[in-house]
Amino acid sequence: MLRSRPVSEKKDTYHILTYGCQMNERDTESLAGFLQQMGYTASTPEEARILLINTCCVRESAERKILGKLGELRKYKLVRPEVVIGIGGCMVQQPGMSERIRKEYPYVDIVFGTHNLHQLPRMLEQCQFGQVVEVWDSEGEVTENLPERKAEGIKAHVTIMYGCNNFCSYCIVPHVRGRERSRAPEDVIREVQSLVAQGVKEVTLLGQNVNAYGKDLNRQVSFADLLRIVNQVEGLKRIRFTTSHPKDFSLELIAAMAELDKVCEQIHLPVQAGSNRILAAMNRGYSREQYMELIGQIRRAMPDVVLTTDLIVGFPGETEEDFADTLDLIEKVRYDNAFTFLYSKRSGTPAAEFAEQVDAEIKKARFQRLLQLQNRISLEHNQAIIGSVQEVLVEGRSKTNKELMTGRTRGNKIVVFAGADYQVGEIVSVRIDEARTWTLLGTMVSK
Ligand code: SAH
Ligand code: SF4
Ligand code: F3S
Repeated sequence: MLRSRPVSEKKDTYHILTYGCQMNERDTESLAGFLQQMGYTASTPEEARILLINTCCVRESAERKILGKLGELRKYKLVRPEVVIGIGGCMVQQPGMSERIRKEYPYVDIVFGTHNLHQLPRMLEQCQFGQVVEVWDSEGEVTENLPERKAEGIKAHVTIMYGCNNFCSYCIVPHVRGRERSRAPEDVIREVQSLVAQGVKEVTLLGQNVNAYGKDLNRQVSFADLLRIVNQVEGLKRIRFTTSHPKDFSLELIAAMAELDKVCEQIHLPVQAGSNRILAAMNRGYSREQYMELIGQIRRAMPDVVLTTDLIVGFPGETEEDFADTLDLIEKVRYDNAFTFLYSKRSGTPAAEFAEQVDAEIKKARFQRLLQLQNRISLEHNQAIIGSVQEVLVEGRSKTNKELMTGRTRGNKIVVFAGADYQVGEIVSVRIDEARTWTLLGTMVSK
């Protein structure tokens, strides 16, 4: 059946709902860029004609939430039949999912995967003639003809590589994002330069495992080399990156971080667990001892480094003793912050088949213990810098108190202080007066 195009007086509008990690947020920016190139403008879900969901499936909770949302979107279409609903990204990339969406949510117009987002414009044209379901099994070449980026604010994320080769036994990401593919350094630099020309002062280089950058390229370029090149971009003030896999974190990278002025002394270094038995079952590729050794090397080169991590609680077979090893590791490393997740069974991953799944109540109780421990340590870290003067890159007005300004330290900690709008994008010196678990309060001591 032919669906007629809407006769709308208003300019065509879109709204994108994004779930998942920063890579997904960056993909959403590309989707928005395509729509803007086609003349669409951003709007609210109540008003938008194109409604897209960019999905995540790293844990079951994300998936449940998204399917609930997809059900909800139907109401917009009931009152405004011209609405186009599209769903794409990681969740859709799982085997059987696009079929399921087609059957259970027949009002969805477009279904696409992680490897073909650049085809959205064509799919939008085509969906006037019926549902379009296109999910590629494998990744193509890295797509470089993405829309020119429009910077918003002084910080931006830049994807430097796609996919992951690690196959941690619990993780769905390599299954839905494909193998590691690095962007050419000149393409990364061009993007960073264009962002800086639009006022960006800080970039975060993104990948599932940035330390493996360049290994798949047919040339001699490492992640440390890339940092060196990005460090030369004039006008750029700060560089961060995420995520780092401990097994690929090289001494060359530590040296580059310590030497390069724009690269902030902050590392997100997911450990996942503190027990060697669990680390092996997770297929993480390092032992607790190797991880601790790496932390030692990092701290020797950068004594003020801010370290954060990801932890999984209740991995199949995790005993009280294994969990105690995780608590012990946290006490020893003393992370500034940790993102803690309850293990979630992901179909198609080896861990989903492991026999000894941990009881939900035990998982939750361990999760609480971890959280308490980490919150105490986070607060202690913040209290330890009271009285120190920190370099703060000013971001704008504080969301909670519009009278005050907010910015971040080199360690990525949020600082709230009295300042002025003209300082946005500048680095100012702030003395820390008060510490909370998540925020620091301070006084500017000089511009
Ligand atoms: N590539 C990054 C992170 C990817 S996903 C890395 O390797 O560190 C972000 C985090 O989600 C992971 O670090 C892990 O802690 C968590 N995670 C991944 N799969 C999970 C699962 N099945 N259950 C619970 N947490 C999971
Ligand atoms: Fe998942 Fe492991 Fe790859 Fe991270 S490194 S994305 S946890 S498989
Ligand atoms: Fe989720 Fe995909 Fe990121 S599964 S965590 S959105 S790579």
